[in-house]
Amino acid sequence: MTRIWHLASRPHGAPQPENFVLQETTAAVLAPGMVRVRNSWLSVDPYMRGLLEDSNPYMPTLGLGAAMIGGAIGAVVESRNNLFKVGDIVSHRVGWRDESVLKPEEIAALPKADVPPQRFLGHLGMPGMTAYSGLLFVAEPKSGETIFVSGAAGAVGSAVVQIAKIKGLTVIASAGGPDKCAFLREIGADVAIDYRAPGSMDDKLSAAAPEGIDIYFDNVGGDHLDAALLCAKRHARFALCGMVGVYNAAKPMVLKNILHTIRAKPKMQCFSAPDYYHRRDEFLTDMIPWVENGLIRSQETIHEGLESTPIAFCDIFKGGNTGKMLVRL
Ligand SMILES: NC(=O)c1ccc[n+]([C@@H]2O[C@H](COP(=O)([O-])OP(=O)(O)OC[C@H]3O[C@@H](n4cnc5c(N)ncnc54)[C@H](OP(=O)(O)O)[C@@H]3O)[C@@H](O)[C@H]2O)c1
Repeated sequence: MTRIWHLASRPHGAPQPENFVLQETTAAVLAPGMVRVRNSWLSVDPYMRGLLEDSNPYMPTLGLGAAMIGGAIGAVVESRNNLFKVGDIVSHRVGWRDESVLKPEEIAALPKADVPPQRFLGHLGMPGMTAYSGLLFVAEPKSGETIFVSGAAGAVGSAVVQIAKIKGLTVIASAGGPDKCAFLREIGADVAIDYRAPGSMDDKLSAAAPEGIDIYFDNVGGDHLDAALLCAKRHARFALCGMVGVYNAAKPMVLKNILHTIRAKPKMQCFSAPDYYHRRDEFLTDMIPWVENGLIRSQETIHEGLESTPIAFCDIFKGGNTGKMLVRL
């Protein structure tokens, strides 16, 4: 039998575990060319919130009752394809289940690296590629500049903080709570802002960056983006990666500092990691040794068992993770 999580109902506001239902089906017979993978790690990510909507402007959504999907790593347990043999460890995007039956084009062999395989769901996978491409290809940092990174204790943000330090930037990083701020300082942030502490983001960022910021890497949106507008130096660059603070919000986002764009004339660019997959070799060439030798520290928050997948996913929106949120099967 195969157990697969399905979308049971659409969330209103923050997703709840009850929005998902675990169903058992008979394991599919393997057709010629196909590969069966027993999953050992599942990724849960903020973008999955978008899959749960009726419709949204930036990605296809799931129908009610549809099987959930997402990044996963596992071992080939049966193969009718010469490219993959039993025992190969592979990554794919058909997760939220204990076993996946895949076409060869849906599977990638893991690049060689002296790291645990689940790193390829974190700093050596999609979140790491997002951090690397957003910082280096979109924001184009120069040594000596000051960057503000929001959502900095998460999978993407923690990579941005550490790559920015490697590139000689001064890093102001924000996250929720004193423990996460201590983590940010441990991984090299020069200033850590606790956005949950009393006071406005405008005041906190203005105090942290009295001369202003050259770069804003946005993972949160809302009042974080607004504060970055207030503090932007002339011709600052904004890499707009995601807005996790807005995905569940009932009210539209208001940017009271938007007129600062007229003063600062920032370059603001949204991007998606796939926009830069043609440059994945550059990413792996840099990041694998950085992660292997500990120059980049990869923190993980791990939930145990397939049953915990929706809980792990919902916890992302409560700040339940430091580093990459993962499920170990
Ligand atoms: N452009 C792309 O291709 C791409 C790819 C991957 C991810 N993203 C985006 O990048 C961002 C980070 O993703 P990730 O995978 O690294 O997730 P993550 O940061 O590992 O997890 C999300 C974190 O966001 C924070 N958060 C949740 N709700 C919040 C709120 N209302 N206000 C402020 N912070 C909140 C929480 O940390 P705190 O405890 O600090 O609140 C939580 O731990 C997301 O916006 C995501 O959509 C974009």
